[in-house]
Amino acid sequence: MTQRRVLVLNGPNLNLLGTREPEIYGHDTLEQISARLIARGLELELDVECRQSNHEGVLVDWLHEAKAGGVHAVLLNAGAYTHTSIALLDAIKATQLKVIEVHLSDPETREPFRHLSYVGMAAEDCVKGLGPNSYMVALDKAAAL
Ligand code: DQA
Repeated sequence: MTQRRVLVLNGPNLNLLGTREPEIYGHDTLEQISARLIARGLELELDVECRQSNHEGVLVDWLHEAKAGGVHAVLLNAGAYTHTSIALLDAIKATQLKVIEVHLSDPETREPFRHLSYVGMAAEDCVKGLGPNSYMVALDKAAAL
């Protein structure tokens, strides 16, 4: 049997993890987090692929591609696009993908402009506030979907 695929999509500025506001986001790089997700994926018999883009339209394209490719679930940390992107909301609705929203921090305890999540309006679930561990918990949730 072929393994179920999980796509991990990261939005703007997440390529800077490790040095970006470490008091909020911690010291782990996106590469380190991605390596741990791939390793955990092996245990869960999930084929995990991790991508990052600073461009909203690229994230939309990747959601379309995930749909066409029969991806089982998407972990999406859309960064600041979480709070602004109706295009990502529409893409999740249009593709009917199972999306789990992920955040290292807890946006709801931060500035008011981070309290609204367009992604959250269509996502199946959300894991936030656990630092890099948010991704690991989200992967376990994806396996259970
Ligand atoms: C973030 C939270 C967002 O508000 C912020 O714009 C990010 C990172 C998080 O993972 O905590 O870029 O998504």
